[in-house]
Parts: sequence; C-alpha cells; structure tokens
Amino acid sequence: MPFVNEDKRTAYATELATADIGRRVTVNGWCARQRNLGSLIFIDLRDRSGIIQLAFDESTDRETFETAANVRSEYVLTASGVVRSRGADINVNRPTGTIEIAVDRLKILCKAETPPFFITEGDTDVRNELRMRYRYLDLRRPEMMKNIIARSEITKLVRDYYHEKGFIEIETPNLIKPTPEGARDYLVPSRIFPGNFFALPQSPQLYKQLIMYAGFDRYIQIARCYRDEDLRADRQPEFTQIDMEMSFVTEDDVMDMNEGLIHYLYKKFLGVTLPEKFPRIKYAEAMERFGSDKPDIRFGFELCNLTDLLKDCTFRVFEGAIAAGGSVRAINVKGGASFTRREIDSLGEVAKQYGAKGLAWRKKANGEVTSSYAKFLSDAENAAIDKRMDFSEGDLIVIVADNNKIVFDALGALRRECAARLGLLRPDDFKFLWVVEFPLFEYNEEDGRFYARHHPFTAPMEEDIPLIKTNPGTVRARAYDIVLNGTEIGGGSIRISTPDMQGLMFETLGIGEEEAEAKFGFLLEALKYGIPPHGGLAFGLDRLVALTLGYDDIRDVIAFPKAQNSSEPMSRCPAPADPQALHELGIAVINKTDDNEGTGSK
Ligand code: AMO
Ligand code: AMP
Repeated sequence: MPFVNEDKRTAYATELATADIGRRVTVNGWCARQRNLGSLIFIDLRDRSGIIQLAFDESTDRETFETAANVRSEYVLTASGVVRSRGADINVNRPTGTIEIAVDRLKILCKAETPPFFITEGDTDVRNELRMRYRYLDLRRPEMMKNIIARSEITKLVRDYYHEKGFIEIETPNLIKPTPEGARDYLVPSRIFPGNFFALPQSPQLYKQLIMYAGFDRYIQIARCYRDEDLRADRQPEFTQIDMEMSFVTEDDVMDMNEGLIHYLYKKFLGVTLPEKFPRIKYAEAMERFGSDKPDIRFGFELCNLTDLLKDCTFRVFEGAIAAGGSVRAINVKGGASFTRREIDSLGEVAKQYGAKGLAWRKKANGEVTSSYAKFLSDAENAAIDKRMDFSEGDLIVIVADNNKIVFDALGALRRECAARLGLLRPDDFKFLWVVEFPLFEYNEEDGRFYARHHPFTAPMEEDIPLIKTNPGTVRARAYDIVLNGTEIGGGSIRISTPDMQGLMFETLGIGEEEAEAKFGFLLEALKYGIPPHGGLAFGLDRLVALTLGYDDIRDVIAFPKAQNSSEPMSRCPAPADPQALHELGIAVINKTDDNEGTGSK
C-alpha cells in the first residue's frame, strides 16, 4: 500500500500519555505482537520510542477489524484513532501502559516474513551469532534502540562541551602513512602507485600534533580508528575515539579539561554529580596497591607486600620467589571466608592464567582458621602475616609468590574476581581515576628492545631526561590514563616538541636515522618550524558509552560491530576481491597456510 500524507505519524508511541485521552492521533511502526481474542484484537505497535497498544473491538468497522486480524509480527503499519484509557487493564511495565488507541483506520504498509528470532521488549537470550547475522532486526529491540540513541545523545553532549570550550572540529585523513599505536595496521593498496599502500589510522595522533604545529590551539574530533588486533569484550578492530589536543598546556590542564567533560556528561546525561576531583595516582602506586595500571576502586582488597616478613622463611615457594628477586604479596578478601574449598581452588586457576604457579590462602570462618600455608611457616611468621593483613573473622587471605609482574597480574585479577563473586561490582557505582607517571619505555625480553609504552611522541618527565641514555627502563612519561571501574577509557600525554628529543626517542627505540627519516621524516621536518608545547588525550567513545550505560561489551553500543574473529557476519566480509580489481592494483593473492605468524602487537 502506498504511503500517503494522511498516513503520516502525529506522535511517537511513547509521546502519548493520559493527557492525550480523547485526542485523535496517527502512529507509524512495526507490529511487535498481535493478540486475537475473537471479538477483540490487540496489536502492540513499536516505533523507535517504544510501544503503544492498538485496540480493535465491536465498535471497529469490519474492514479495519479484518485488516487487524491479518497483521503478523513485524508487519509495518500506520494506524489512526482516538486515544482512550485502558481502564483497570493497565500494563505497569510500559510508559504507555494506561492508554491505548481505539483504531478506526489501519493500513499494512509492508508485510514481513517470520523473523529468525522474536524481537523481545526486554533482555534477549538469542545467540550472539544470530544477533550479528540479522543485526537490523537485533537493532529493532527496544534495548538496542535505546543504547544507540543514548550514544547519539552522549556524542552530541561531547561536541557541545568542547565547542563551548573553544575547540575546533577538524577531520583528519583515513588514508595515511602508518601511525604506530602498538597494533597491526589495516593496509589499503594504491592503484596509482602499484605496490604501495596506505594504512588506515590507528588514531589521528600525528595529524592532531600537526594541527597544533599549525596553530589551531584546540582540536577535537570524533575519530574512527582501525587496529588489526585480537578482539576482546572491550576491543573492536574499528572503534571511535573522542580525540582532542591542546597547545600551551601542562598535564594538569589536559586532565582538568577532560575531567570537566566527564562531569558535564554525567550531570547532563545521567543527572549524576561526580566527586569534584578524580583521584590521581602514580603508576607505581597503582601497581603496588592494586596490581594493575587500571585499578577498579569500587572495592578494597588492596595488595600488601609480605616479602620483608618472610625473608628468612623456609617455605620453598615463598623463599624461592624472594631469592630470585621476586616478592610475596597478598590481599585480604573481606567476606571471602564464605568461599568453599572448590571456589578457592578455582581462584588458583585464575592465578594460573596470569602465570602464577599457585596461590596460598588462609581463612577464618565461624571462628575456625584453615590455611594452605600455615604449616610451612613458623608461628611468628604466621602471626606477623595475620597482623599485617588485619586477619579477622570472615576474611580470606590470598597470597601469590613469584616475580613482580606475575604477582601483580595475578593478584590484580584475583582482586576483581573475588569482588565479582561477592557481588561488589555495581555497574552504577562510577569510580573514575587518573593514573599518571607511566614508564616511558617497556622492555621486550623476546627481542631485547625497548618499546614506547604509550606511543613514540610522548614526552619524558623533565627530571628523568638524563636517564634516557643511562637507564631507559626507569624513565617516566608525561602520560596519563583515565580509568573507570577497572577499564582504561582514555589516555594521552604531553608530546615531544623538539627534533632533538624526538630523534633521541627514535634512537632509544632502535629506530635508525634512515628508518626514522623514511617513516617520520615529515614530522621531524615539521618540528624545525616553531612548535608550541602541546598535549592531548583520546577517550574510547565505545567504552565510555558502554560503561556509562552499564554494559561490559562494547558491541552493545555499536550499531554494526564486528564478530569475535573480526568478520562481519551480516554482509559477510571480508570477502575475496574481484580478480580484475586485484590486477589493477598489481596484487597477486598467495595461499597462506600459516595464520599464526607474528602477534600483531609489540
Ligand atoms: P590509546 O591507544 O590509548 O591512545 O587509545 C585511546 C583510547 O581508545 C580506546 N581504545 C579502544 N576502544 C575500542 N577498541 C579498541 N581496539 C581500542 N583501542 C583503544 C581506549 C583507549 O584508552 N593517540 C593516542 C591518544 C593520545 O595520546 O592522545 C591513542 O590512541 O579507551
Ligand atoms: P606445594 O608445596 O606445591 O603443594 O604448595 C604448597 C602451597 O603453596 C599450596 O597451597 C600452593 O597452592 C601454594 N603455592 C604454590 N605456588 C605458589 C605461588 N607461586 N605463590 C603462592 N602460593 C603458592
């Protein structure tokens, strides 16, 4: 049936309320459900706002009643009629639950086949694969519709905030020379220059620096980024950053500006007033206290170093770790004494995933103390641990001994695992913090080289500059990350702004002059022409939106995400290219059997 002027909506479903009773309206949307009770027919009409009930009864004319009888799920409808009260028959779960439309004009605009899954109002138990394959149907679910609309609102608020602060929106190219952010590039072949490639940006990093060199002073972009890396719940191969950069600033200015954004968003979008200042803690302290550079501070269970108490102990596991230069550290899981032996054993499995050989524990439940390690230690050592850990009724002490990296990783993960099991991870408890003074370099045992921990354009802390030549591993960066509930939602730094320092950085990273010239010659050249002090940050928009809405998986806030293996099951890509197109590009495809070559990251 053609769609004519008379069919046009006068209101979205949930714009209607009791105040509209008696008003004549037209709604457009999909049939979410049809119930035919013989002399009565009800249709739940769904549009992007939600659901309204359409009613047909003995007062309805015959033709309209028959049309209603023929309506099936997902048919597209236009309906006109008068809003009336549902009387006693109300649906408390819906904003429009007290009213319905007594329809006198109904048109089926388009029929639909029975969809592969039911489009439910609430949670879905449909498999992820099926949701991805029929994403346009999954997006019809009110929950997904709400998420995508919320993302749009948040994005608008982001723009409002930065524009208000004098930031200029500038688009940067998508076909670029690789910018290293630590992942593998997506490459785009050039037809005009066969054998040559563009990379898709892992971030607009170098361009935003050049925008500062040009003098724009304050830049913002909602930027698409592309990284070919293994996916997790909080990682997609293409994702979106809120990317910003400022000139004539220090770390504090950049952090304050972006903290201001979060305050603004939470106030405007959620009506939540966050603490005036987010805590700022140094990387080294974050590791010591939480075993993580993105600590979840919704709960305690802080790490405690026991090494000094156990330096003379004879327990092989502890003694061995200490002798090898490692440490023995513990957390006190308050309330963890309720865990059964099996549950504690499964904590051991978690520790093993992070490289620990095991974990030692001690708990006090109903006055009774049990322990896996007490018998290996002297009474004095046990007492000293109990004292330092403030061990009391209901507690579970968990100890890991190994090199520091394994101890931090394992205890950091165990902290969160125990908190999850004890129900302490409330998604609406928003705990933001800044982590500052990251190491500038990271040493890779495998190839014996230093890598930039953030990216190679991050400036070192002034007082650590002399150490770059003598002890690079100890140099701290002018970098900062913003963390929400254990997830890194953003990161940035003050940048290098002289050719000498940039050259020294490349040299330390083992990038020779020739390679630096080939890869970053344009940047080194630009650095000669008067560069303001500058720095910035990028938020992961997908992560920020997901956590703000209470989701762990960023796919719940992305309209068309990639599946776990980076493919797109709906349109079925990637797909083989047309041989003619390959020929024009001068590309021959070889059969590649070894898919696991390389790791894709540093
Ligand atoms: P970084 O690499 O830390 O910094 O990225 C910034 C933020 O982007 C988000 N993010 C991701 N989100 C989804 N999927 C991914 N694969 C993914 N990778 C990163 C994270 C992260 O904190 N150019 C610098 C920023 C700067 O220095 O200004 C950069 O890209 O939330
Ligand atoms: P074992 O002598 O191997 O049976 O270990 C004795 C106790 O030490 C057990 O409770 C183990 O789970 C624990 N344990 C083993 N390795 C570690 C480790 N790296 N850190 C802490 N505890 C450990």
